Amino acid sequence: MTVPKRVFVTRRIPEAGLALLRARKDVRMTLFPKDRAISRTELLKGVKGTDALLCLLTEKIDKGVLDAAGPQLKLVSNFAVGFDNVDVPACAARGVMVTNTPGVLTDAVAEHAFALMMAICRRVPESERFLRAGKYKGWGPLMLLGMELKGKTLGVLGLGRIGAGVAHRAAKGMGMKIMYYDVRRNEQFEKDYGATFGSVEAVMAASDVVSVHVPLLPTTRHLIDARKLALMKKSAYLINTSRGPIVDEKALVAVLKKKRIAGAALDVFENEPALAPGLAKLENVVLTPHTASATNEARDAMARLAAQAVLDVFDGKTPQYVVLPQKPS
Ligand code: DGY
Repeated sequence: MTVPKRVFVTRRIPEAGLALLRARKDVRMTLFPKDRAISRTELLKGVKGTDALLCLLTEKIDKGVLDAAGPQLKLVSNFAVGFDNVDVPACAARGVMVTNTPGVLTDAVAEHAFALMMAICRRVPESERFLRAGKYKGWGPLMLLGMELKGKTLGVLGLGRIGAGVAHRAAKGMGMKIMYYDVRRNEQFEKDYGATFGSVEAVMAASDVVSVHVPLLPTTRHLIDARKLALMKKSAYLINTSRGPIVDEKALVAVLKKKRIAGAALDVFENEPALAPGLAKLENVVLTPHTASATNEARDAMARLAAQAVLDVFDGKTPQYVVLPQKPS
């Protein structure tokens, strides 16, 4: 009789993924029973003796977790495209594979970035607050004026799947001009969209809306700092649906308070779930609680991918999306 392989799932994910694991008689799934973020102590206990860990971006998977799991651990399957919560080199050093869930959330996140862009530029939540507070006393020609997107320049920082998806919607749907920065120049994209390439500084200075799509790496932490924010036009907006620590949130609050830029729309924060002091009090921000990928379609597909990676590793196959340690640059 074969011994079942053990997988620990750190929080309930959509049934689409759990069902794949449950369907296998040779797999023993342990699901953390509470619908809240697992504590460090609970994680260290739950992972003990497992062959695979299916975890979330809210958990830090470091040497301590790998030690607690034991040498039989084969896989860390991260239910997210971002994997800054996982110590990938430490996993590689122990022969533990790391996988993530890219591709299936591209449209959800690109649509959310776009929703944020329209919400901040047309002051939608602010208008709603105004109305619900009983301040609407009748139509006014100067009331709650915003910025049109047509003909404006969208600056995309990071031209991966999601950044390109936002650029596509902006160019084709709204008639925006596109400027971008990426570690790799993409001449085909430039031809397809009439886009221009520039440094982070050049993109920040030229854009009417800057949308952040770089991954969080040691090199991108505080990529958007006080100096870069100071380069932005006074009329420009910043959108972030990537990872909070890419933007120096304190510096952003300072420029927003002084109205040095027109506004910001953020789905991610530097110290989630906490917000930088003063951020939530500002009128010129739109804030969502890291929900850019929160569609039924994306989350089901992420669950299936994350579970399939576990089954692939148990079956001796290579999963679709393996994260490799970064080569030092
Ligand atoms: C991710 O996948 O990295 C998002 O932040 C959550 O879906």
